[in-house]
Amino acid sequence: MELVVLRMGHRIHRDERVTTHVCLTARAFGCDGVIISGQPDEGVKKSVEDVVRRFGGKFFVEIRQDWMNVVKSWLGSGGEVVHLTMYGLPLPSVIEEIRSSEKNKLIVVGSEKVPKKVYEMATWNVSVTNQPISEVAALAVFLDWLQQHREFYMEFENAKIKVIPSAREKKVVRLA
Ligand SMILES: C[S@@+](CC[C@H](N)C(=O)[O-])C[C@H]1O[C@@H](n2cnc3c(N)ncnc32)[C@H](O)[C@@H]1O
Repeated sequence: MELVVLRMGHRIHRDERVTTHVCLTARAFGCDGVIISGQPDEGVKKSVEDVVRRFGGKFFVEIRQDWMNVVKSWLGSGGEVVHLTMYGLPLPSVIEEIRSSEKNKLIVVGSEKVPKKVYEMATWNVSVTNQPISEVAALAVFLDWLQQHREFYMEFENAKIKVIPSAREKKVVRLA
């Protein structure tokens, strides 16, 4: 199943850090890539691509200004859309249904106010508690539930550096 995150409404400067963290979290939790809509920001794309070069994997970052075309073409090609929102149905009540469908998933997170149309077009509107939280936290919890902790055992191909887990020190090996 392909997993892609759509980060909506990115604003240059203001969202730089959080959008980068959305991308890094998506990558570490096994997504194939992130599509960033809103203001085009090559800086965020470059810094995430630099992490991919060093830590491996095939993660992509794409910049697309029109989110609606992204969602329409995803649905049109048979995929499903999971919109993460505090107003949606509780994660525990829908996760089995989402997990049991083999279809590719576009996981949508917002930044500023999310247009009503997104709620209407989404296959599922899912809440990670009904309290306002960070999109990064919502994404991490959703992906962990979807994949049942598999992210802890993933390997990233062609990595140049790799962290060796340690109880007391920073251990890193260079592979290339
Ligand atoms: C800082 S919030 C801004 C939400 C915005 N005020 C709105 O009306 O949509 C940014 C994003 O975090 C995610 N988010 C925030 N709280 C959430 C929650 N409890 N469950 C799931 N996603 C959440 C949503 O994707 C949201 O668009």
